Amino acid sequence: MAKSSQVTWGSRFTAGPAELMLRFSESVSFDHRLAPFDIAGSKAHSAMLAHVGLISPKERAAIHAGLDAILAEISAGKFKWEIKLEDVHMNIEQALTQRVPAAAKLHTARSRNDQVATDMRLWFKHATTVLGEKILGTQRALLAVATANRDVLIPGYTHLQRAQPVYLAHHLFAWMEMLQRDRARLADVAAHANWCPLGSGAIAGTTLPIDREFTAKALGFVDAKGRPQVTQNSMDTVADRDLFIEFAAACATFGVHMSRIAEDLILWSSTEFKFIELPDAFCTGSSLMPQKKNPDSCELLRGKSARLQGNLHTLLTLAKGLPLTYNRDLQEDKPPVFDSFDQTALCADVLAGTIGGMTLHRERCAAAVADPALLATDLADYLVLRGVPFRQAHHAVGDIVKLAEKLGLPLNQLPTVEVQKINPAYGDDWLEVFDLKRALAKRTGTGMPGPKQVAKQFARWQKALK
Ligand code: ARG
Repeated sequence: MAKSSQVTWGSRFTAGPAELMLRFSESVSFDHRLAPFDIAGSKAHSAMLAHVGLISPKERAAIHAGLDAILAEISAGKFKWEIKLEDVHMNIEQALTQRVPAAAKLHTARSRNDQVATDMRLWFKHATTVLGEKILGTQRALLAVATANRDVLIPGYTHLQRAQPVYLAHHLFAWMEMLQRDRARLADVAAHANWCPLGSGAIAGTTLPIDREFTAKALGFVDAKGRPQVTQNSMDTVADRDLFIEFAAACATFGVHMSRIAEDLILWSSTEFKFIELPDAFCTGSSLMPQKKNPDSCELLRGKSARLQGNLHTLLTLAKGLPLTYNRDLQEDKPPVFDSFDQTALCADVLAGTIGGMTLHRERCAAAVADPALLATDLADYLVLRGVPFRQAHHAVGDIVKLAEKLGLPLNQLPTVEVQKINPAYGDDWLEVFDLKRALAKRTGTGMPGPKQVAKQFARWQKALK
């Protein structure tokens, strides 16, 4: 490889990199997707250079026009990416240099280290917005299903055993809370990304009279009042990969949530539960068993969550042993975050489609929730209100559960006399406890599944998800 192949840094070398080294060290095959952000960064940087008099307004204009033309070519798929130019930054700079002589001044007071940090911060702001919108879409699908099935009751589960009755909407709104926190986490990442690295240089800034605040403003790294935000330590700026970890963690946490939601959907759609029917559009059949309808979208959501966790782990391990500041290892930071973005975006859409297309088997839900044992705790509460200490009340109910099992009867079909023999605190009205509607209406506190509280949550989500 000729020495001249590395026009940006090749002059102190007598030999060019081996072909194998080029293939090994290139990142353009994956970081080319940073092009719009790299070009925005270069436009802001050159505008700043002109602002402080390091380049002329004419040179700035020529650089901007050249960059715009390159971006148009890239968007049209006509730009020729070259592996021998290593990465997105050098590909664009070289293409610009071939067209615009002033491009030789573009890298004044800049290093690829603060450049890549800037590109990624711009990318994180974009990526978190896209994912936030997609998760919002999932939440809207959830609200639609909850609204269409507002009156449906199902058993809530602990240990995968029937526990207490809830409105289906209450269960769906539990998922909603998880997704809401995922959106908040992404917004936090966006806020953390909102500091401009440019001016940090390779490690120790520059001797040239630059204006970091100007560049920050031009790129939108500003606070709520429009004041520029620039990073405060040049060494930390080029070494820091916290945002990568935070972004991957936000995606991985969403992954855990979607996986748990998927697991609920898989259970609910099984013949054993049959609470719901998943949409054909998100299921597949068996190549052998003609009767099968498999919940593949849910299973893949569960599976992909492992991949999102893996990406987080890759980034944590990548960063942990590195001395300050930049080390080339850090180039490996991009494939995991890009993969987390792509997979999270896809998963959020698939989750929205799966939830949006599901229908309820209302009679199966009604049959499951009619199990009187679900109200055993309410019966203990009934005894508490009649003066029985809770621990004794718990036993008094446990004893009649045992009796019901022995007699092979549902809890609410035991003879009152037998029940009163177990504890005289059971009044003649004890069976009223098994009125499901009444039982739910008694759950009046915030966060509980009573009808008034659920109505409040409907109002809250309708407003929040507009
Ligand atoms: N492609 C490199 C990366 O993604 C850009 C920074 C290169 N900096 C350097 N000092 N070699 O990490």
